[in-house]
Amino acid sequence: MTNVDELLARMSPAEKAGQLTQYFYFRLPAGAEAEPALGLDVAEQPQAVEAALSRGEAGSLLFVTDPGEINRLQRLALEGNPHGIPLLFGFDVIHGLRTIFPVPIAMAASWDPEIIERGQAIAAREARAVGIHWAFAPMVDIARDPRWGRIVEGAGEDPYLGAVVAAAQVRGFQRHIIAGPKHFGGYGAALGGRDYDEANLSDHELWNVYFPPFRAAIEAGAGNVMTAYMDLNGIPATASHWLFTEVLRDAWGFDGFVVSDANAVRNLVTHGFARDLTEAGERAVIAGVDMEMAIADPAYARLPESQAPAEVIDSRVRKILEAKVRLGLFDDPYVNEDRARTVLADPAHRAAAREAAQRTAVLLRNEGDLLPLDAGDLRSIAVLGPLADSKRDTLGPWVFDFDLDETVTVLDGIRGFVKDRADVDYAPGIPVGQRTFPSMFDMFGGNAPADPPGFDAEAEFARAVATAAAADVAVVVAGEWQNMIGEAASRSSLELPGRQLELLQAVVATGTPTVLLVMNGRPLDLRWAAEHVPAILDIWYPGTQGGAAVADLLFGDVSPSGKLPFTWPRTVGQIPMISSHTTSHEPENQARRYWDEASTPLFPFGHGLSYGRFSYGDLTVDRPVVGREGTVAVSVEVTNDADRAAAEVVQLYLRQRHGTASRPVRELKGFRRVVVPARSTVVVEFTIGPEHRRYWNAAVRDWVLDATSFDVEVGGSAASFDVRPAVAEG
Ligand code: BGC
Repeated sequence: MTNVDELLARMSPAEKAGQLTQYFYFRLPAGAEAEPALGLDVAEQPQAVEAALSRGEAGSLLFVTDPGEINRLQRLALEGNPHGIPLLFGFDVIHGLRTIFPVPIAMAASWDPEIIERGQAIAAREARAVGIHWAFAPMVDIARDPRWGRIVEGAGEDPYLGAVVAAAQVRGFQRHIIAGPKHFGGYGAALGGRDYDEANLSDHELWNVYFPPFRAAIEAGAGNVMTAYMDLNGIPATASHWLFTEVLRDAWGFDGFVVSDANAVRNLVTHGFARDLTEAGERAVIAGVDMEMAIADPAYARLPESQAPAEVIDSRVRKILEAKVRLGLFDDPYVNEDRARTVLADPAHRAAAREAAQRTAVLLRNEGDLLPLDAGDLRSIAVLGPLADSKRDTLGPWVFDFDLDETVTVLDGIRGFVKDRADVDYAPGIPVGQRTFPSMFDMFGGNAPADPPGFDAEAEFARAVATAAAADVAVVVAGEWQNMIGEAASRSSLELPGRQLELLQAVVATGTPTVLLVMNGRPLDLRWAAEHVPAILDIWYPGTQGGAAVADLLFGDVSPSGKLPFTWPRTVGQIPMISSHTTSHEPENQARRYWDEASTPLFPFGHGLSYGRFSYGDLTVDRPVVGREGTVAVSVEVTNDADRAAAEVVQLYLRQRHGTASRPVRELKGFRRVVVPARSTVVVEFTIGPEHRRYWNAAVRDWVLDATSFDVEVGGSAASFDVRPAVAEG
């Protein structure tokens, strides 16, 4: 058994600083050039890192995923380290390693902790098999501004849903590797939705909205937490003693290690906060940041010359060594490459990815029950739009180790489903690679060329419309190219990029019944479509098996059951728009809010239709009056009148009527995904305890539980309710 104290006693200051340093180790695809902003010399980087390994002065690497490479680098580290301390390998395992699941916002739209946990357990199994010990995930930042590109990586706007999803992900990851919830804290509140810009959040918002998912992730046992890039209330988050010591460790009892975001310690100089790199390292380590993630030239390498107290540095090194001991790396530092290949090829992983994609899609509109389509009844199907046959876009952002050959696009999925029962005619209308934005992630390859040689834009557009006109049904896939969302991919508009709306309008004008499949990670401006396109299914970026799952849904093998994890605004000007807002003067007078636009969303939080026909029966509350600390049992009957079984996500909201603060008009406090058989009724039960009613109160600067009455609301979205009053007495 490795004795951490003995190790510490033998280590030199430079070796300790090394343990606290994590380096990027990049090998880009042949011909690729590193994004200049990364400040990375691709040719120099590997040699510089290997030199640090040979000196015993690196604790961790990120971005290596090849098991052979991982073994080689581990050997170098073990041979170079006089104490035999192994390397920790971290990576962005965000929604799968080789088997790609739907993007995180989509997984949240399943409202299904079971599939979320299973998905991340599979991702973690693949990661561990290749030698990765730690995922920089889940991203649990609340996102209330969809201009912010990283909304795609989280669970949306709501702290309760966010907390459930965070805990499920941590449980899944930690079956095999360490999970690192990020980015603590408040990163999602970037001013104007501009990535990396400052966040200014009141304590009320931090404790009630932005912190709960982190707290849930810690309670689920997360072994790591990552810092955030921006200033939080005027202090760089990465140097916040309050965040990393007072809240995380002292208040929540976090026992794992904290890593900075990439180059965030260096950035303390950029912020105009630290005088130089030495002071940057010193202030971050004192604040509670155990490890620095560095692209190059780490600040923590200067810790031995800094004023950081030796006992602080020792306590940070202890955390890193403890993590390595817990992972068993001192005993078993290498991976078995044959086993890695077998695990990555496991067909059960693909089956789970398909199931996940089935559960994440949200049926936004279905006028006249256009969906499901009857494959036996159609002679020809037009599949249109460039995203319909783009493998790379189907996978979504934040994947690196993908296999395009096994990725199923929407077109592949539809063709595979209908076989020779109908003609499937594809026309992109717009070049498949046409993206309006070059992303820093493009260096990892996979995107189709923006200007394919010989693509005649006008002729192709006309061919797409003619294809629609000749078909029995048109399926248009529209949205954002995957590199238009994610990190450093914020937008000032929510409009469909390029000529996609024009294409959709021309297709609808042919009179052929049209289904719109939206490929996205944020709400887009669908005002026109929501009025003119009868069926709209949000398929997100559905992953490796996405197209197969979409066909299962389109043709009715499976009913859609996803629900929106955010409020879908009509237009960018309404942002931010959330379901759990408070109320004030003349709430019924909408024109006092905006005179030129409704203040209601296009689709409410929690919205999602089904091929089932659900109605909600009597809501019962077991006792109308409880003590302030008391618990209320709520039950509701949910009936499915359709001839088929279908899943519904039953949602419970609370509204406090009076108290020592104004409380939101509704707050999600419970949900259950239930499968209701054909022509049947099921009873769904919830318990409302004091933990659901307690909130952080800005007047007393503490948690309170008011003596009050509250409304209990249950329904299939945040806008359709059966309401019952209940009272919690003091
Ligand atoms: C992102 C993190 C990510 C890290 C490593 C940063 O730019 O903000 O979320 O984990 O890079 O790739």
